[in-house]
Amino acid sequence: MTTKDTRPHGGSTTGFGTPAPSDRNSLSVGSNGPLLLHDVHFMEQMAHFNREKVPERQPHAKGAGAFGVLETTEDVSRYTKAALFQKGASTDMLIRFSTVAGEMGSPDTWRDVRGFAMKFYTSEGNYDIVGNNTPVFFLRDPMKFPHFIRSQKRLPDSGLRDNNMQWDFWTLNPESAHQVTYVMGDRGLPRTWRHMNGYGSHTYMWVNEAGEKFFVKYHFHTNQGMEFFTNAEAADVAGSDTDFHRRDLFEAIERGEHPSWRLDVQVMPYAEAKDYRFNPFDLTKVWPHADYPLIPVGTMTLNRNPENFFAQIEQAAFSPGNTVPGIGLSPDKMLLARSFAYNDAQRNRIGTNFHQLPVNKPRTEVNTYMFDGQMAYDHSGSKPVYAPNSYERGWSDGPGEPEEIWAVDGELVRSAYALHSEDDDFGQPGTMVREVFDDAQRDRLVDQVSGSLLGGVTSPVLERAFEYWKSIDAEVGKRIEEKVRAGGAGEPAEGMGEA
Ligand code: HEM
Repeated sequence: MTTKDTRPHGGSTTGFGTPAPSDRNSLSVGSNGPLLLHDVHFMEQMAHFNREKVPERQPHAKGAGAFGVLETTEDVSRYTKAALFQKGASTDMLIRFSTVAGEMGSPDTWRDVRGFAMKFYTSEGNYDIVGNNTPVFFLRDPMKFPHFIRSQKRLPDSGLRDNNMQWDFWTLNPESAHQVTYVMGDRGLPRTWRHMNGYGSHTYMWVNEAGEKFFVKYHFHTNQGMEFFTNAEAADVAGSDTDFHRRDLFEAIERGEHPSWRLDVQVMPYAEAKDYRFNPFDLTKVWPHADYPLIPVGTMTLNRNPENFFAQIEQAAFSPGNTVPGIGLSPDKMLLARSFAYNDAQRNRIGTNFHQLPVNKPRTEVNTYMFDGQMAYDHSGSKPVYAPNSYERGWSDGPGEPEEIWAVDGELVRSAYALHSEDDDFGQPGTMVREVFDDAQRDRLVDQVSGSLLGGVTSPVLERAFEYWKSIDAEVGKRIEEKVRAGGAGEPAEGMGEA
C-alpha cells in the first residue's frame, strides 16, 4: 500500500535517482532493534559522509571567492596578441582570496600575505594569474619553498605556531627581507579583501602578433582604496568573527556593491632584461615604476557570488602554468616550479580529472590525450587514444620553436642568479622603509617587529633578527633592538603570538 506523500518538495532521492525511503529514520528490526545492512539509502548516506571533505590546500587553505569579469579597455596589442587583452574584450573570471599559513578554520585576520588567485575563461582556453597582495615573495629558489611553508606553520611536537621558527627561517634566508617588510607592515593586515591590491608578482612573458617578446608584471589596484587593520582591531575581529573577510566579500556582492580593480602592467622589452640593474626574474625584487611605468589595461569587477562553496571555490584549481597564446612564463625559477606544482597538487587534492569539473573547465573545446583515470566524465568516445593517428582525431606538432620562450645557454648549475648590478637582498626593502613608508608606518613597523620578536624569539635567532633589520635600515633596526631589549628579550609578550 502506498501512502500520500506529505513531504515538502516531493521528497529526496538516492544518488541514483530513485526515491529515498527516509531521511529521518534508519531501518531497524523493531523500534529498538538492530540496523540493517540492506538499508541501502542509509548506508549510502553514511559512506558518502565519510568522504565529504577533500584535503585542504597546502598552503593557502583558508579562503573564499567570487565570479566576475575582466574588461580590457586599453589597446595593449603592441605587447601581446592574447585575446583577453585585446581592447573591447570582456572575459568571465573567478577569483579566490586566501591566507597562506592558516588552516581551513583559521581566522581571516591573522597577519599574513593574502592570496589573489584569478582564473580567466578566455576564448583561447583558461588563463590563471595566481598572485598575492604583495609584488614580491620570500624566496627566489623553489627548493626552499616546502621548508619555508613548514617554518610558518606548526611545531612538530606541540602543534603550535611559533615566532622563533618563523624568524629562524627568515633570518637564515636574507632574500626574505623585502617580503617580510611588506608582511610586517600594514599590508600584513588588510581590512578586507576588497581593500587590497593584487599582483602577479612574477615576471611573465608577452608576445605580440609580430612575434616580438616583452617581459611584464601585473598590478591590480583596488578601486575601493587600500585599508588596513591595526593589530588590536585584527585581534579583536579574529576573536569575534573568524570568517570576517569571507563574510565581507559575500555580503558586499549580495548588496550589489561590486568591488573592482584597475589592471595595469609594467612592460620591459625583451632585450633590456639582460642588463637591467635588478635581475628581472628575481621574485624578491620589484621593478621601480620610474624604470618601468604602469601601463593601463582594463578593469576587473566581481559581480557574482558562488552558488555552492564546495563545488565552485573549494574545488577551484588554479595554476600559474595555465597560459594562453601570447602569454608565457619567464626564467623565474619560482614560477617554473609553480607551473608544475599546482596541477600536481590538485590531482592529489581533488582527483585526476579535476580539470573536467565545471568551475575548472575551459569554455573552449578540449581535445586532450589525457585519458581515463578516476572520475573521468568527459571522454573522446571511440576516437583514437594515441597520436599521431590515421583517423579523424587531431594532434599537435607545432612547427619550429614555441613563441613564448626565451634563449638560454650555459652549464648545469645549482646557484643563485647571475648578479645584476643592484642585486642585493636588503637594498629594495631599505628603500621601501626609508622612502615609501611615512613616520607613522615606520613606527607601526617597529612596534610590530619588536612585538613579534618578544613573542618567544630567543638566541641565536634574536640577535640575527636585529642584524637583519639593521641591514634593511640602520635606524629601524636600532629602534627594534632597543625596544626588544627594554621589553625583556626572549620573554613572550601577551597578545603577540602571531607573526
Ligand atoms: C616554488 C614556489 C611555490 C610553490 C611550489 C607553491 C605551491 C602551492 C601549492 C601546492 C598550492 C596549493 C594548490 C591547490 O591545492 O590548489 C598553492 C596555493 C597558492 N599559492 Fe603557491 N606556491 C609557490 C609560490 C607562490 C607564490 C610566489 C605565490 C604568489 C605570488 C603563490 C600564491 C598562491 C596562491 C594564491 C595559492 C592559492 C590558490 C587558490 O586560491 O586556490 N604561491 N601554492
